[in-house]
Amino acid sequence: MSKENDLIIRVAGEGGEGVVSTGDFIAAACARAGLEVYTFKTFPAEVKGGYCMYQIRVSSERIFNQGDTFDVFCAYNGEAYELNKHLLKPGTVFVYDYPGGDFEPEAIPEGVTAYPIPMSQAAKELGSYRSKNMVAMGALSALFNINEDTVKQVLTKKFKKKGEEILDFNLKAFEKGKELGLAHKKVDSRRVADAVASKDVIIISGNDAIGMGAVLGGLEFFSAYPITPATEIAKFVATHLPKKGGTLVQAEDEISSIGQVLGASYAGKKSMTATSGPGLSLMSELLGMAFMGEIPCMLVDVQRGGPSTGLPTKHEQSDLFLAIHGTHGDAPRIVLSVEDVKDCIDMTVDALNMAEQFQCPVILLSDGSLAFSTQTVPAPKPENYTLVKRKRWDGVGKYFRYAMTDDLISPMADPGTPGGEHIATGLEHGPNGAPLWAPANHEAMQAKRTGKYAGLVNTYKPTEVDGTGEADIGIIAWGSTIGVVREAVARLREEGIKAKGFYPKLMWPMPVAQYEAFAATCKKILVPEVNFQGQLAHFIRAETSIRPISYTICGGLPFNPSMIVNKVKEVL
Ligand code: COA
Repeated sequence: MSKENDLIIRVAGEGGEGVVSTGDFIAAACARAGLEVYTFKTFPAEVKGGYCMYQIRVSSERIFNQGDTFDVFCAYNGEAYELNKHLLKPGTVFVYDYPGGDFEPEAIPEGVTAYPIPMSQAAKELGSYRSKNMVAMGALSALFNINEDTVKQVLTKKFKKKGEEILDFNLKAFEKGKELGLAHKKVDSRRVADAVASKDVIIISGNDAIGMGAVLGGLEFFSAYPITPATEIAKFVATHLPKKGGTLVQAEDEISSIGQVLGASYAGKKSMTATSGPGLSLMSELLGMAFMGEIPCMLVDVQRGGPSTGLPTKHEQSDLFLAIHGTHGDAPRIVLSVEDVKDCIDMTVDALNMAEQFQCPVILLSDGSLAFSTQTVPAPKPENYTLVKRKRWDGVGKYFRYAMTDDLISPMADPGTPGGEHIATGLEHGPNGAPLWAPANHEAMQAKRTGKYAGLVNTYKPTEVDGTGEADIGIIAWGSTIGVVREAVARLREEGIKAKGFYPKLMWPMPVAQYEAFAATCKKILVPEVNFQGQLAHFIRAETSIRPISYTICGGLPFNPSMIVNKVKEVL
């Protein structure tokens, strides 16, 4: 459950019942009221049917994760009730489809407030069963102080596109739900905080934020093949990149899309693609080629449950091995990982810049939970972003594409540059690009290709340390797990436990000295991550002198703060 100034509402039902729309409306209404919003949704791989859940956490203060469990649970069907009834603890509120729904709950546990709302029945009486979710929305709005006018605005915006009749049914359903909610005597104290002065913020999902970062980052060419949970990035870019004069191609598969990205980049354009684990596997051969040919390219991997087709709509952080080392030969890459939606914007710009600066593949890791999580973030200002352009040949003297320079970065010549003709090749080559097998050359070129970005460990934003002094436990987290650990660390300290956090965003090259300096201040190190093998813990053991305790889960869901707090207590 949440803190006093928080409210966590969970809506659950069947895919196709409009759970996602309900959650989106609540989130948008609360964000428009100036509140902080962090959402989490999980849904099945089927387009219709299967358990679908949307959790909205709202607060007047900054929030970093979706919270432990709910304060308010709204069940659209019996399956949702069965899966969540064990979480109906004293102090929680239960809103459910009754009478007329497909289930009748067992005796309501003591201390739980129940508000039955005949959602299905009311919608049927209005002549549109589809609008059941808007009956629920009206009731939730009336019961928990969700601004009615704002909900109606977002509802109108969404359903107007589907036709006046559909909009009309839904507005009526909303009013009916409100009436049914108000018919209950409110006996609990749960409510969304009152509106605060609106700040200069936007509410946006992780995937859309990556698309926005790409456009802000000066992207010129994007090619991708659709794959859950990354597709929305391409949808965003498709809407906005052409307006800036850029080009988007939907390729026939992932191999083709990375091939097009390399071609466009060779031709001088800032280029990227976005995919998920299976797509990254397919692209790995050409990423080796990009490494060898020193071709700038940026790739977003929105991790999902794997391996293979795995759990396509579920959360996991299990592509770290693949992202860093997944290709033949020795071709480690720059790998960044985002914590939250704000990072999705800012670090997309960083990743595009790094690809240009270091002329190599850069992989940005997001994950299934962040992809669909909507969060309030400060409205980005284009003037705050620095855009890096690749080092280009000045046209003076004889051109050597792979010239050994002081910073190991060789100027590039765009095709068509007089005198700049060269071969960009996956074969080992000498400074002029022509194949060269000499042993000393291969060693020198490998050192060039891996050494040119090694200094990032000192120049990219320092890894954040959360806490000061000596600690009994240090928690190292990456990706969206960081937000959960931030809250866990704060709670542990409130309980008098000396805890610290360490949050790397540069996953490779690994800032080893920063890891070791942190570990030197902690008696024990815990590494929670959502994968089976403990992939970051593995890299920490391999690259540093730290011997961490690995804490892994891989059930398709993220950690919550209580899980981390409880694990720390167990470990200590
Ligand atoms: N009146 C009219 N239309 C309504 C409505 C209402 N009251 N409530 C919802 N809808 C519409 C929504 O607008 C949406 O239509 P759209 O697709 O044109 O936007 C549609 O019904 C689905 O509703 P929504 O609320 O968005 O989702 P849901 O809670 O019913 O859940 C999904 C369904 C979207 C989660 C699920 O069907 C899905 O897509 N699963 C993922 C499939 C996938 O990606 N598989 C991976 C394969 S690898």
